Amino acid sequence: MTVIWERPQERPFEAQADRPYILLNAAMTLDGKIATQSGDSKISSEEDLVRLHHLRADVDAVVVGIETILADDPQLMVYRVKGRNPDRVILDSAARTPTEAKVLSAKAGRTIIAVTESAPKTRVDDLLRAGAEVIVAGSGDRVDLRLLMNRLSGKGIRRILVEGGGNVNWGLLELGLVDEIRVAVAPVIVGGREAVTLVEGKGFDKVHDGIKLALQRIEQYGEDLVLTYRPAKEKDEE
Ligand SMILES: NC(=O)c1ccc[n+]([C@@H]2O[C@H](COP(=O)([O-])OP(=O)(O)OC[C@H]3O[C@@H](n4cnc5c(N)ncnc54)[C@H](OP(=O)(O)O)[C@@H]3O)[C@@H](O)[C@H]2O)c1
Repeated sequence: MTVIWERPQERPFEAQADRPYILLNAAMTLDGKIATQSGDSKISSEEDLVRLHHLRADVDAVVVGIETILADDPQLMVYRVKGRNPDRVILDSAARTPTEAKVLSAKAGRTIIAVTESAPKTRVDDLLRAGAEVIVAGSGDRVDLRLLMNRLSGKGIRRILVEGGGNVNWGLLELGLVDEIRVAVAPVIVGGREAVTLVEGKGFDKVHDGIKLALQRIEQYGEDLVLTYRPAKEKDEE
């Protein structure tokens, strides 16, 4: 790893009172995709995967959306480096996580499925039998992210790593719940209108209304550039 640039006075880590610190990490092609149109998401270099596993070992929980579980069936464990396995949290309003998903067979740490009140009880029971913990977060169409984060705080979770996908990224960013973003930019372009981008969702109409960020660091891992951002504060713009 090479540090290419660092903000002279990086802001210190600021813990939140009512929710965990939330770090969003992703690997992205130069054209902003986190998977190809057919769902291939193997974008990171080996060096970047090692960086990701260090990040996992450094947090209390990893959060992903149900579509990422269905597309990639990830284990979300730490195995490329030595370290503690974090809990795994899946945003899954309707309790669609397959009972044979690898994330449920992980031996260390808890697997927590966040659902809404409308999730079918039979599916919730299946997931409980498969060893998951279930948190009911809200009665709306989707998991109430503020409520969930508050509940996760209550379970002793202080630091969270969000590993996507694009809809989950939007859900958290839209609510101002992201404290830090790290994006590995791989030197490849895949195109495709249907390919999932770093941030999906409804989006903003005006650039002016977008979420303003302040660059903190530029590093190189293999051929990937890793950019670290924090939400901008007025003093960053001075
Ligand atoms: N390159 C990378 O770093 C990387 C990392 C992760 C994923 N990926 C790729 O990203 C793709 C999946 O991304 P995606 O955007 O389609 O799906 P996603 O973000 O993984 O999952 C979205 C789903 O999460 C559920 N959800 C529940 N509550 C939510 C809330 N409050 N806000 C947002 N979502 C909520 C919704 O399904 P329900 O309504 O059923 O609950 C929603 O459709 C896959 O191809 C995967 O390979 C790439």
